[in-house]
Amino acid sequence: MKNPFDKFIIALAPMAGVTDFAFRKICADFGADMVVSEMLSIKAIENGSKQSLKMLREESSALRCCQLFGHELKSIERVLSSDLFDAYDYIDFNCGCPAPKIVKNGDGSALMRDIEKARPVIASLVKNSKKPVSVKFRLGIDDNINYLEFAKMCEEEGVAFITLHARTREQGYAGSVDKSAYEKLVRAVNIPVFWSGDIKTKEDVAYAQSIGCAGVMIGRNAIGNPEIFSVLKGITPPYSKRGAVRTHLELLKTYYKSERTLVAYFKKHLMWYVKSTDNATLLKQKILQFTTLTEIESVIDQM
Ligand SMILES: Cc1cc2nc3c(=O)[nH]c(=O)nc-3n(C[C@H](O)[C@H](O)[C@H](O)COP(=O)(O)O)c2cc1C
Repeated sequence: MKNPFDKFIIALAPMAGVTDFAFRKICADFGADMVVSEMLSIKAIENGSKQSLKMLREESSALRCCQLFGHELKSIERVLSSDLFDAYDYIDFNCGCPAPKIVKNGDGSALMRDIEKARPVIASLVKNSKKPVSVKFRLGIDDNINYLEFAKMCEEEGVAFITLHARTREQGYAGSVDKSAYEKLVRAVNIPVFWSGDIKTKEDVAYAQSIGCAGVMIGRNAIGNPEIFSVLKGITPPYSKRGAVRTHLELLKTYYKSERTLVAYFKKHLMWYVKSTDNATLLKQKILQFTTLTEIESVIDQM
Protein backbone atom coordinates (compact mmCIF):
# COMPACT_ATOMS: atom_id res chain seq x y z
CA MET A 1 0.00 0.00 0.00
CA LYS A 2 1.18 3.50 -0.83
CA ASN A 3 2.10 5.79 2.03
CA PRO A 4 -1.05 7.95 2.43
CA PHE A 5 0.88 10.69 4.24
CA ASP A 6 2.36 13.62 2.33
CA LYS A 7 4.93 14.28 5.07
CA PHE A 8 6.64 12.67 8.05
CA ILE A 9 4.03 12.51 10.83
CA ILE A 10 4.67 13.58 14.42
CA ALA A 11 1.73 12.24 16.40
CA LEU A 12 0.37 12.27 19.92
CA ALA A 13 0.27 8.63 21.11
CA PRO A 14 -2.89 7.19 22.63
CA MET A 15 -2.79 7.34 26.43
CA ALA A 16 -5.70 6.22 28.60
CA GLY A 17 -6.48 8.86 31.22
CA VAL A 18 -4.35 11.46 29.41
CA THR A 19 -5.29 12.07 25.76
CA ASP A 20 -8.78 13.47 26.36
CA PHE A 21 -10.40 15.52 23.58
CA ALA A 22 -9.12 18.82 25.05
CA PHE A 23 -5.52 17.64 25.36
CA ARG A 24 -5.65 16.26 21.81
CA LYS A 25 -6.87 19.63 20.53
CA ILE A 26 -4.09 21.47 22.38
CA CYS A 27 -1.37 19.12 21.06
CA ALA A 28 -2.71 19.67 17.53
CA ASP A 29 -2.58 23.46 18.13
CA PHE A 30 1.08 23.06 19.15
CA GLY A 31 1.85 21.20 15.92
CA ALA A 32 1.02 17.50 16.31
CA ASP A 33 0.19 16.20 12.82
CA MET A 34 -1.98 13.41 14.19
CA VAL A 35 -3.65 12.75 17.54
CA VAL A 36 -4.91 9.45 18.95
CA SER A 37 -7.71 9.16 21.50
CA GLU A 38 -7.71 7.19 24.71
CA MET A 39 -8.65 3.56 24.06
CA LEU A 40 -12.39 2.92 23.99
CA SER A 41 -14.09 -0.45 24.42
CA ILE A 42 -16.01 -1.66 21.37
CA LYS A 43 -18.25 -3.67 23.71
CA ALA A 44 -18.99 -0.63 25.90
CA ILE A 45 -19.89 1.42 22.82
CA GLU A 46 -22.15 -1.39 21.63
CA ASN A 47 -23.83 -1.44 25.05
CA GLY A 48 -24.48 2.29 24.79
CA SER A 49 -22.13 3.30 27.63
CA LYS A 50 -22.77 7.03 28.07
CA GLN A 51 -19.19 7.62 29.17
CA SER A 52 -17.68 5.90 26.12
CA LEU A 53 -20.01 7.69 23.72
CA LYS A 54 -19.14 11.03 25.32
CA MET A 55 -15.44 10.25 24.92
CA LEU A 56 -15.89 10.12 21.13
CA ARG A 57 -15.89 13.94 21.10
CA GLU A 58 -13.14 15.20 18.77
CA GLU A 59 -12.26 18.80 17.89
CA SER A 60 -8.60 18.88 16.94
CA SER A 61 -7.19 20.34 13.74
CA ALA A 62 -4.82 17.38 13.12
CA LEU A 63 -5.43 13.94 11.59
CA ARG A 64 -7.73 12.24 14.07
CA CYS A 65 -7.53 8.63 15.22
CA CYS A 66 -10.01 6.93 17.48
CA GLN A 67 -8.43 4.02 19.30
CA LEU A 68 -10.62 1.00 20.01
CA PHE A 69 -10.10 -2.31 21.77
CA GLY A 70 -12.10 -5.54 21.78
CA HIS A 71 -12.21 -8.81 19.88
CA GLU A 72 -15.81 -9.98 19.45
CA LEU A 73 -16.70 -10.14 15.78
CA LYS A 74 -20.42 -9.39 16.18
CA SER A 75 -19.68 -6.30 18.26
CA ILE A 76 -17.05 -5.12 15.77
CA GLU A 77 -19.51 -5.51 12.91
CA ARG A 78 -22.26 -3.56 14.68
CA VAL A 79 -20.11 -0.78 16.10
CA LEU A 80 -17.68 -0.20 13.24
CA SER A 81 -20.38 0.02 10.58
CA SER A 82 -22.15 2.79 12.52
CA ASP A 83 -21.60 6.48 11.86
CA LEU A 84 -20.16 7.07 15.33
CA PHE A 85 -16.67 7.68 13.97
CA ASP A 86 -17.53 10.25 11.32
CA ALA A 87 -15.39 12.89 13.06
CA TYR A 88 -12.29 10.70 12.75
CA ASP A 89 -9.84 10.00 9.94
CA TYR A 90 -8.62 6.61 11.21
CA ILE A 91 -9.68 3.81 13.51
CA ASP A 92 -6.64 2.67 15.48
CA PHE A 93 -6.89 -0.81 16.98
CA ASN A 94 -5.16 -1.63 20.27
CA CYS A 95 -3.14 -4.86 20.30
CA GLY A 96 -0.60 -3.65 22.82
CA CYS A 97 -2.28 -2.85 26.12
CA PRO A 98 -0.50 -4.82 28.89
CA ALA A 99 -3.06 -4.20 31.69
CA PRO A 100 -4.16 -7.49 33.35
CA LYS A 101 -7.88 -6.66 33.26
CA ILE A 102 -7.67 -6.07 29.48
CA VAL A 103 -5.41 -9.06 28.71
CA LYS A 104 -7.58 -11.38 30.85
CA ASN A 105 -10.50 -10.60 28.52
CA GLY A 106 -8.49 -11.54 25.43
CA ASP A 107 -8.05 -7.89 24.40
CA GLY A 108 -5.03 -5.57 23.91
CA SER A 109 -1.70 -7.43 23.79
CA ALA A 110 -3.51 -10.78 24.32
CA LEU A 111 -4.36 -10.60 20.61
CA MET A 112 -0.67 -11.19 19.86
CA ARG A 113 -0.81 -14.68 21.46
CA ASP A 114 -2.27 -16.32 18.40
CA ILE A 115 -1.93 -14.55 15.06
CA GLU A 116 -4.46 -16.77 13.30
CA LYS A 117 -7.03 -15.96 16.01
CA ALA A 118 -6.32 -12.24 15.65
CA ARG A 119 -6.59 -12.36 11.86
CA PRO A 120 -10.43 -12.49 11.60
CA VAL A 121 -10.64 -9.67 14.16
CA ILE A 122 -8.39 -7.42 12.07
CA ALA A 123 -10.16 -8.51 8.87
CA SER A 124 -13.54 -7.64 10.37
CA LEU A 125 -12.35 -4.21 11.50
CA VAL A 126 -11.06 -3.43 8.00
CA LYS A 127 -14.21 -4.79 6.35
CA ASN A 128 -16.71 -2.99 8.55
CA SER A 129 -14.97 0.31 9.25
CA LYS A 130 -15.84 3.31 7.09
CA LYS A 131 -12.39 4.69 7.92
CA PRO A 132 -8.95 3.20 7.23
CA VAL A 133 -7.76 1.00 10.10
CA SER A 134 -4.36 1.18 11.78
CA VAL A 135 -3.06 -1.26 14.38
CA LYS A 136 -0.76 -0.56 17.35
CA PHE A 137 1.11 -3.46 18.95
CA ARG A 138 4.17 -4.54 20.93
CA LEU A 139 7.10 -6.87 20.26
CA GLY A 140 5.04 -9.77 21.58
CA ILE A 141 3.52 -11.34 24.66
CA ASP A 142 4.62 -14.14 27.07
CA ASP A 143 8.17 -13.31 25.94
CA ASN A 144 7.34 -14.68 22.47
CA ILE A 145 8.62 -12.09 19.99
CA ASN A 146 6.34 -12.27 16.94
CA TYR A 147 5.82 -8.63 15.88
CA LEU A 148 7.10 -9.24 12.32
CA GLU A 149 4.60 -12.06 11.69
CA PHE A 150 1.85 -10.03 13.37
CA ALA A 151 2.64 -7.04 11.16
CA LYS A 152 2.56 -9.15 8.00
CA MET A 153 -0.86 -10.46 8.97
CA CYS A 154 -2.06 -6.84 9.43
CA GLU A 155 -0.70 -5.94 5.99
CA GLU A 156 -2.39 -8.98 4.40
CA GLU A 157 -5.72 -7.96 5.94
CA GLY A 158 -5.59 -4.43 4.51
CA VAL A 159 -4.44 -2.33 7.47
CA ALA A 160 -3.45 1.22 6.46
CA PHE A 161 -0.51 1.67 8.83
CA ILE A 162 0.99 0.05 11.90
CA THR A 163 2.59 1.40 15.07
CA LEU A 164 5.15 -0.55 17.08
CA HIS A 165 5.90 0.03 20.75
CA ALA A 166 9.10 -2.01 20.83
CA ARG A 167 8.74 -3.61 24.25
CA THR A 168 7.07 -6.93 25.12
CA ARG A 169 3.91 -7.03 27.21
CA GLU A 170 6.01 -8.31 30.14
CA GLN A 171 8.41 -5.35 29.86
CA GLY A 172 5.54 -2.93 30.42
CA TYR A 173 7.19 0.50 30.18
CA ALA A 174 10.53 -0.49 31.78
CA GLY A 175 13.97 -0.14 30.25
CA SER A 176 14.40 1.26 26.78
CA VAL A 177 12.75 0.16 23.54
CA ASP A 178 14.48 -2.26 21.17
CA LYS A 179 15.55 0.28 18.55
CA SER A 180 16.63 -2.37 16.04
CA ALA A 181 13.07 -3.71 15.83
CA TYR A 182 11.74 -0.65 13.97
CA GLU A 183 14.18 -1.02 11.09
CA LYS A 184 13.44 -4.76 10.81
CA LEU A 185 9.73 -3.93 10.70
CA VAL A 186 10.11 -1.25 8.02
CA ARG A 187 11.97 -3.80 5.88
CA ALA A 188 9.42 -6.57 6.48
CA VAL A 189 6.24 -4.79 5.33
CA ASN A 190 5.07 -2.44 2.59
CA ILE A 191 2.72 -0.36 4.73
CA PRO A 192 3.73 2.74 6.71
CA VAL A 193 5.36 2.06 10.09
CA PHE A 194 5.12 4.43 13.05
CA TRP A 195 7.65 4.40 15.89
CA SER A 196 6.22 4.61 19.41
CA GLY A 197 8.59 4.55 22.38
CA ASP A 198 11.03 6.93 24.06
CA ILE A 199 10.84 9.68 21.39
CA LYS A 200 12.01 12.94 22.96
CA THR A 201 14.41 14.92 20.76
CA LYS A 202 14.79 16.13 17.17
CA GLU A 203 17.59 13.56 16.84
CA ASP A 204 15.18 10.75 17.82
CA VAL A 205 12.72 11.94 15.16
CA ALA A 206 15.47 12.25 12.53
CA TYR A 207 16.67 8.72 13.31
CA ALA A 208 13.16 7.24 12.97
CA GLN A 209 12.80 9.04 9.64
CA SER A 210 16.24 7.91 8.44
CA ILE A 211 15.37 4.21 8.85
CA GLY A 212 12.16 4.62 6.84
CA CYS A 213 9.45 5.13 9.45
CA ALA A 214 6.44 7.14 8.24
CA GLY A 215 5.99 8.82 11.60
CA VAL A 216 6.57 8.82 15.34
CA MET A 217 4.12 8.86 18.21
CA ILE A 218 4.99 10.78 21.36
CA GLY A 219 3.53 9.50 24.62
CA ARG A 220 4.98 10.21 28.05
CA ASN A 221 7.16 13.10 26.89
CA ALA A 222 4.02 14.99 25.82
CA ILE A 223 2.27 14.65 29.18
CA GLY A 224 2.04 18.13 30.72
CA ASN A 225 4.22 19.23 27.80
CA PRO A 226 2.25 19.86 24.57
CA GLU A 227 5.05 22.32 23.65
CA ILE A 228 7.15 19.29 22.63
CA PHE A 229 5.35 19.31 19.26
CA SER A 230 6.37 22.93 18.50
CA VAL A 231 9.95 22.18 19.60
CA LEU A 232 10.24 19.03 17.46
CA LYS A 233 8.74 20.77 14.44
CA GLY A 234 10.76 23.97 14.92
CA ILE A 235 7.66 26.17 14.89
CA THR A 236 6.56 29.06 17.10
CA PRO A 237 4.13 27.82 19.77
CA PRO A 238 0.61 29.21 19.23
CA TYR A 239 0.28 30.21 22.89
CA SER A 240 2.08 29.97 26.23
CA LYS A 241 2.09 27.09 28.70
CA ARG A 242 -0.37 29.07 30.84
CA GLY A 243 -2.54 29.45 27.72
CA ALA A 244 -2.43 25.69 27.19
CA VAL A 245 -3.44 24.94 30.78
CA ARG A 246 -6.27 27.53 30.64
CA THR A 247 -7.55 26.19 27.31
CA HIS A 248 -7.44 22.63 28.66
CA LEU A 249 -9.49 23.59 31.72
CA GLU A 250 -11.98 25.75 29.76
CA LEU A 251 -12.64 22.95 27.27
CA LEU A 252 -13.11 20.42 30.06
CA LYS A 253 -15.64 22.74 31.73
CA THR A 254 -17.85 22.05 28.70
CA TYR A 255 -17.37 18.30 29.20
CA TYR A 256 -17.77 17.66 32.93
CA LYS A 257 -21.05 18.67 34.52
CA SER A 258 -19.90 18.58 38.13
CA GLU A 259 -17.14 20.76 39.58
CA ARG A 260 -16.09 17.91 41.89
CA THR A 261 -15.46 15.49 39.00
CA LEU A 262 -13.69 18.13 36.93
CA VAL A 263 -11.41 19.16 39.82
CA ALA A 264 -10.59 15.54 40.64
CA TYR A 265 -9.68 14.86 37.00
CA PHE A 266 -7.87 18.11 36.22
CA LYS A 267 -5.64 18.02 39.34
CA LYS A 268 -3.72 15.19 37.68
CA HIS A 269 -3.10 17.24 34.52
CA LEU A 270 -2.21 20.33 36.56
CA MET A 271 0.44 18.40 38.48
CA TRP A 272 1.93 17.28 35.17
CA TYR A 273 1.82 20.84 33.80
CA VAL A 274 3.72 22.26 36.80
CA LYS A 275 6.35 19.50 36.93
CA SER A 276 8.94 21.64 35.13
CA THR A 277 8.48 24.70 37.39
CA ASP A 278 11.04 25.61 40.11
CA ASN A 279 8.80 24.88 43.09
CA ALA A 280 7.12 21.82 41.55
CA THR A 281 7.30 19.57 44.64
CA LEU A 282 5.63 22.12 46.91
CA LEU A 283 3.05 23.05 44.27
CA LYS A 284 2.13 19.42 43.67
CA GLN A 285 1.56 18.87 47.39
CA LYS A 286 -0.75 21.91 47.41
CA ILE A 287 -2.64 20.81 44.28
CA LEU A 288 -3.30 17.38 45.81
CA GLN A 289 -5.43 19.04 48.50
CA PHE A 290 -7.52 21.16 46.07
CA THR A 291 -11.28 20.67 45.99
CA THR A 292 -12.47 23.74 44.02
CA LEU A 293 -12.01 25.32 40.61
CA THR A 294 -11.05 28.61 42.30
CA GLU A 295 -7.99 26.92 43.81
CA ILE A 296 -7.03 25.40 40.45
CA GLU A 297 -7.47 28.75 38.67
CA SER A 298 -5.29 30.55 41.24
CA VAL A 299 -2.36 28.25 40.36
CA ILE A 300 -2.90 28.79 36.62
CA ASP A 301 -2.87 32.60 37.20
CA GLN A 302 0.54 32.28 38.85
CA MET A 303 2.09 30.21 36.06
C1 LIG B 1 -0.48 6.62 30.94
C2 LIG B 1 -0.35 5.84 29.66
C3 LIG B 1 -1.49 5.38 29.05
C4 LIG B 1 -1.40 4.66 27.84
N1 LIG B 1 -2.53 4.26 27.23
C5 LIG B 1 -2.46 3.65 26.00
C6 LIG B 1 -3.63 3.34 25.27
O1 LIG B 1 -4.76 3.60 25.71
N2 LIG B 1 -3.48 2.74 24.07
C7 LIG B 1 -2.23 2.42 23.54
O2 LIG B 1 -2.14 1.90 22.42
N3 LIG B 1 -1.12 2.73 24.20
C8 LIG B 1 -1.19 3.34 25.41
N4 LIG B 1 -0.05 3.70 26.06
C9 LIG B 1 1.25 3.43 25.42
C10 LIG B 1 1.72 4.65 24.61
O3 LIG B 1 0.86 4.95 23.54
C11 LIG B 1 3.15 4.43 24.05
O4 LIG B 1 3.13 3.39 23.12
C12 LIG B 1 4.16 4.08 25.15
O5 LIG B 1 3.99 4.92 26.28
C13 LIG B 1 5.60 4.26 24.64
O6 LIG B 1 5.78 5.56 24.12
P1 LIG B 1 6.45 6.78 24.98
O7 LIG B 1 7.82 6.33 25.41
O8 LIG B 1 6.49 7.92 23.98
O9 LIG B 1 5.56 7.04 26.14
C14 LIG B 1 -0.12 4.38 27.27
C15 LIG B 1 1.02 4.85 27.92
C16 LIG B 1 0.93 5.56 29.11
C17 LIG B 1 2.20 6.05 29.77
